[in-house]
Amino acid sequence: MYTMQAVLGDITKMNVDAIVNAANRSLLGGGGVDGAIHRAAGPRLLKECRRLRGCNTGDAKTTKGYDLPAKYVIHTVGPIWQGGSANEEVLLKQCYLSCLAQAVEKDVRSIAFPAISCGVYRFPVEIAVRIAVSTVEAFMRRNDGLIALKEVYFVCFDEAMYQKYSERVNDK
Ligand code: APR
Repeated sequence: MYTMQAVLGDITKMNVDAIVNAANRSLLGGGGVDGAIHRAAGPRLLKECRRLRGCNTGDAKTTKGYDLPAKYVIHTVGPIWQGGSANEEVLLKQCYLSCLAQAVEKDVRSIAFPAISCGVYRFPVEIAVRIAVSTVEAFMRRNDGLIALKEVYFVCFDEAMYQKYSERVNDK
């Protein structure tokens, strides 16, 4: 059995094994959730990120969580929305699958995702939320009982996003 929940809040406060960061390809920090995570984790996070030497769009790399409650930060790079004809939907799906693969590799029991690409990267929210929930749900169903991961949270930073996720996610 597993649970999937939409929550309204700040992902840096989530007491889970891993939180996902919506980073950029440099992995050297930025604004939005990336900035919030680096501020909360402290300077050691950037130090470790420097050693990772970047990340391609759709891929994911894992660091420690340092001063965060979370043990790990799984950094992924979402696609920048360019109108929908640059493989954006496939790349966003790839982000979720790459993060889940990292979570399995680290034997994580609980994970929190932000709305990847839905801010600065301007991905249409309806499409992004559909991709996020359907990709994660299919993965969790396929691996139910086979992996340590049992709790998935979609952390929404505002009410509008929370409504969008809540419509699609119900507890499993
Ligand atoms: N907790 C949870 N969600 C948050 C938080 C937070 N503390 N801060 C922002 N968000 C939400 C935003 O409201 C948005 O819904 O995360 C979602 C993703 O928005 P961005 O952080 O802008 O990420 P993204 O659209 O993927 O753009 C990535 O922005 O910050 C830079 O370095 C980052 O270049 C990269 C780009």
